[in-house]
Amino acid sequence: MEESNQFPGELSFRLMTIEDIPDVMVIEHESFTLPWTQEAFRNELTNNHFAKYMIMELDGKPIGYAGMWTIMDEAHITNIAVREAYRGRKLGERLLDELMRTAAYVGMKRITLEVRVSNTVAQGLYEKKGFTPSGIRKGYYSDNHEDALIMWADLPSAESSAGEEGSEQE
Ligand SMILES: CC(C)(COP(=O)(O)OP(=O)(O)OC[C@H]1O[C@@H](n2cnc3c(N)ncnc32)[C@H](O)[C@@H]1OP(=O)(O)O)[C@@H](O)C(=O)NCCC(=O)NCCS
Repeated sequence: MEESNQFPGELSFRLMTIEDIPDVMVIEHESFTLPWTQEAFRNELTNNHFAKYMIMELDGKPIGYAGMWTIMDEAHITNIAVREAYRGRKLGERLLDELMRTAAYVGMKRITLEVRVSNTVAQGLYEKKGFTPSGIRKGYYSDNHEDALIMWADLPSAESSAGEEGSEQE
């Protein structure tokens, strides 16, 4: 029903740079039991030509990030996280919208991810954005050998997503 303005301030999105890594590490450690290292992010930003990472800012302050690999016409989400204090205010949804719009814009037709079977919050977000479960990777997570649920969604054609572009930016 209410898709926007559930938070005060100006929301914006931009590409992640090396200078963002300290802020990203704070969010990463708040969000994941197996956080990526600084080196992993640095490698993604400098050496991985398939990787695209974005920062979500509220009033110029980084409060979330998301990344994906774009290979052939399939996008693979590597991570998405919102600062703990800002969760539950539709910002994760806005971030995923932006990532999916970007994926469609660069020509991706489908998008996939893995999510812990216990992470029902993230699964709820993904289902809301059109992802459906398509399989299980047994023991995917090395900390507790938890299974990963694989989810996929179709993306709109690049033309239609480009047409929507300006309308969601506030
Ligand atoms: C997953 C995450 C990005 C969602 O961001 P968020 O800003 O908290 O979520 P939103 O407010 O945009 O909510 C979007 C949807 O997520 C689900 N959701 C969010 N919070 C929830 C909660 N506390 N309980 C159940 N579902 C919830 C709902 O489906 C919600 O849609 P609704 O509000 O219309 O019901 C955020 O919780 C996060 O950073 N978690 C830690 C990192 C993580 O687990 N990342 C995913 C790894 S696969």
